[in-house]
Amino acid sequence: MPKQTQVIRLDANAPEAAAISIASRTILAGGLVAFPTETVYGLGANALDAAAVAKIFAAKGRPGTDPLIAHIAGFDQLPLVARDVPDLARKLAQRFWPGPLTLVLKKSGGIPDNMTAGLDTVALRLPDHPVALALLRAAAVPIAAPSANKFSRPSPTCAQHVLDDLAGLVDILLDAGPTSIGVESTILSLVDDPPRLLRPGGVSLEALRAVCPALEYAPHFLGDDQLAPAPGAMLRHYSPRARLLLFAGDDEAAVSAAMRAEIVGRDNVGLLASDADALQFADLNIPTETLGSNAEEAALRLFAAMRALDRRGLDTIVARAPKKQGLGLALWDRLLRAAAGSIVEVT
Ligand code: TXA
Ligand code: MG
Repeated sequence: MPKQTQVIRLDANAPEAAAISIASRTILAGGLVAFPTETVYGLGANALDAAAVAKIFAAKGRPGTDPLIAHIAGFDQLPLVARDVPDLARKLAQRFWPGPLTLVLKKSGGIPDNMTAGLDTVALRLPDHPVALALLRAAAVPIAAPSANKFSRPSPTCAQHVLDDLAGLVDILLDAGPTSIGVESTILSLVDDPPRLLRPGGVSLEALRAVCPALEYAPHFLGDDQLAPAPGAMLRHYSPRARLLLFAGDDEAAVSAAMRAEIVGRDNVGLLASDADALQFADLNIPTETLGSNAEEAALRLFAAMRALDRRGLDTIVARAPKKQGLGLALWDRLLRAAAGSIVEVT
C-alpha cells in the first residue's frame, strides 16, 4: 500500500497532459488512481490486472462479493470488457454515453474474476468527464472504479471526501473540483429479460423507458442477515451514525406536521431538508443541512450533507422523502438505504 497520496490539481475542462501522463503510468504500473467522473469520484485500477483490482477492494474495505464497474473510453474498447453485446446496448450507449448510465452485459474473457466478484456478467460505462476520459484514453485499458469512499460511507463528490476516507491508500488523487451530478450512475441489466434497473442514478428511469419501454424496476433491498445479496441490492449501503427518519405521504402539510411533532419530541435531532423545509422549520432551531430547491441541487449536495451530519454527533435525523421522479428516484433510493429501508408513511 502506498504511504502517501500524491494530490494533483488539474483543470476539469482541459486536464493538463503532464498530470494525465503520471496518472495513466500509475494505472499501467498496477497502482491506484482516484479521479473525478461526472457522478462521483472513482477509485481506479487497471481492470485487466487482477492484482491491481485486488488493491481496490483492500483500500475500500469492500467485500469481494461486490463487483466493480469497468470504465471505457470509447465503443472500440467494448470487446475488451463484454461479449454478445445486444443491439439494445448499442442503442442505449448511443443515446446516453458518455454519461451516467452503467450497462450490465456478458463479460469477456480478459476481465479477471475478482473484478466481477466471480459473476459471468460485467458492469460498464463510458463516463462524461474530461479528466476521466483523458485518463482512460492515455492508459488505453478499461479502468475498474467503484466510488472512492470507504465501504459503507457516502460516495465522494469532491477530492476532500476522497482524502477523508482514503488518504495514504491511493497513489494519486486527481483533484478537478466538485463533480457535476453528485449521485452515482444508473445501472441497467441487459442480461435479464426484460431489462432491469438495478440502481436508479444520474439517468432517469423516464429517459430510459423512452428508449426501452419494457424496462422493469422493482426496488428490493436486502438486509444484512440475508446471505449472498444480489450485487447492488445490499441495503446497508451508507448508514449515518444517527438514525434517519424518512417521512413520506401525499399530503405535504400532514407530512410537515408529523416531522415537526417528531422533532419537537426529541433531543439531539437534526434536519436534512430542502431550502423550503429548512425555512419552514427554522423556528425549531436544530442542526440543519440543506439540499437546495430542486432534485438536481439535492443530488449535488446529498452526500456532502450526509458526511456533514455524521460529524455533528446527532442521535436522530429527520428528512422528507423526495418525489420519485427524474433524479428524485436516485435521491429516494439513497435516502431509503440510509434509513435502513424504513419510511414513516403519513396518511
Ligand atoms: O457513478 C458511478 O457508477 C460511480 C463512478 C465512479 O463511475 N461508480 C460506482 O461504483 O458507483 P460502485 O462500485 O460504488 O457501485 C457499483 C455498483 C455496485 O452496487 C455493484 O454491486 C454493481 O454496481 N455491479 C457491478 N457489477 C455488477 C454486475 N455484474 N451485476 C450487477 N451489479 C453489478
Ligand atoms: Mg459505491
